[in-house]
Formats: sequence, C-alpha cells, structure tokens
Amino acid sequence: MRLGVLASGTGTILAAILEAGIKVAVVVVDRPCAATTIASDAGIEAVMIQRTSFGQAFDREAYTKQVTAALEEHAIDVAAIAGFGTILSASFCERFEGRVLNTHPSLLPAFKGWHAVDEALAAGVKVTGCTVHVVTAEVDAGPIVAQEAVPVLPGDDAASLHERIKTVERELFPRAIKEFMASVAQP
Ligand code: GRF
Repeated sequence: MRLGVLASGTGTILAAILEAGIKVAVVVVDRPCAATTIASDAGIEAVMIQRTSFGQAFDREAYTKQVTAALEEHAIDVAAIAGFGTILSASFCERFEGRVLNTHPSLLPAFKGWHAVDEALAAGVKVTGCTVHVVTAEVDAGPIVAQEAVPVLPGDDAASLHERIKTVERELFPRAIKEFMASVAQP
C-alpha cells in the first residue's frame, strides 16, 4: 500500500505523518514551501507541480491531470491531503475514488473551504475542531472518518486557534491514515 501526500504549507502535518512511522512514497506540492524540505530531509521525493495562476484562467483540469500523473508514476494507492492549496477537479476523485483522505481545520460540515479558522472566529463559536474525511468531488463534503473538538479561547486570533487545531490534527490525521490504509488493503 503506497501513500502519497499532497501539501502546500509549513508541512507540520506531513512531519507528524512521518513521525507516526507512516511510509510516504511521494510528496506533491503546488508551490515552493517548507513541506518540500521536510520530505527531502526524510529522503522522500518531493514533486513540485507549481500552480502559477490563481486567476480565472487557471486550468484546473490540466493541473489535476499533472497531479494524477505524478501519483500514478509513483504507483500510489492512497493519498493524504495535508493542507494542499489547490482544489483538484472531479477527475481526481474519480481516479482515486474512496482512496483519498483530507484533514480540515473545522468540525465539518461547519466552515468548509480555505478560511475555516477565520470564519469560526468571526462566527464567535466556542468550540471548533478538525475533521478527517474521504475526498469526494464536492469540496470538504465527503464521508467523515474522524473528528475532534477544540475550544476557542478568549483572546484567540486565527494563528493561535489554528495552531491549537493543528496540534490535534497531528495526532488525529496519522491515526486515521493508518486505519484507512488498513481498511483499503482489506475491504
Ligand atoms: C492544516 O490545518 C490542514 O487542515 C489545513 O492546512 C493546515 C496544514 O498545516 N488544510 P501544515 O502546513 O501542515 O502546518
């Protein structure tokens, strides 16, 4: 069972996956980011498929094909999305149907999308959290496999709240990946 990880950010969730002893066959990033260094320090190939356009002109289908091809080249069976900043088109979900997990920094179905932490703060909720779910064509809407609550504390800003959530994600996501890989291997 070969796992690929998609990341864009500081890569701390990727680091937690590696620290949990999960073997990663390839890391795909969409921009220059710290996740690349974390991968190479661990001796894992990091493939950058750079997203050069953030406007209307972005060819999501062509981009998705490149990511799919990179995972296929590395014979990936299961993928984990650990903070990947580009939404892939439906063809990705079809190609890897039921074999991609995402971690999201809210208690889904609340606060879908890229601004989950800011939106939780703006809404004034006292509890938010993180969710691991199977990726489907609809963003942040696939079947939930694990979830944990995190308190919002007085004086929180987006950075402090996100860090508290990520502390939980770093435990929850690796655990969910292990269980998921075992279930995919033996349906
Ligand atoms: C996580 O909160 C993940 O849920 C979100 O992006 C963050 C990635 O964190 N989609 P890091 O870059 O691994 O520290």
